[in-house]
Amino acid sequence: ALEQMPLRLTINGKAQQLSIEPRVTLLDLLREQLHLTGTKKGCDHGQCGACTVHIDGQRVNSCLTLAMTTEDCNVTTIEGLADGDKLHPMQEAFIKHDGFQCGYCTPGQIMSAVACIREGHADSPEEIREYMSGNICRCGAYANIIDAIMDVKKGGAKV
Ligand code: FES
Ligand code: FES
Repeated sequence: ALEQMPLRLTINGKAQQLSIEPRVTLLDLLREQLHLTGTKKGCDHGQCGACTVHIDGQRVNSCLTLAMTTEDCNVTTIEGLADGDKLHPMQEAFIKHDGFQCGYCTPGQIMSAVACIREGHADSPEEIREYMSGNICRCGAYANIIDAIMDVKKGGAKV
């Protein structure tokens, strides 16, 4: 059997005490061990943003993050963004503005979009385009994604 290491962290508000292989990525931990498959695996090497999650409120590519480095951290995935049955304002805006087609990039786009506003990088379409450039959409839904982010930013909802 492969060596297992203890890992304690909080995922979507729930404390977790896990046993993991030291080399497992946060993405694989989420998807394979915890069955949180909302976070997508696109390229698996930091090029597409489909795997974006928040660690202590900051966006990261979970495919580039070793799970072991998240000891005692707060991880939020797309599954943890809604408030119970109430969608997060960014989720609502993506629906309202048709910010997706196939939807594969969408969880990562939404996690990144929330961070983009929190970082103060959503003041214009140009700025949003720049700060969302790590999130690739093969369907080319960019214009609608930017509209959704602008809408949330203008609405002033707490993200
Ligand atoms: Fe992580 Fe593409 S799957 S950046
Ligand atoms: Fe299909 Fe973005 S909606 S990849």
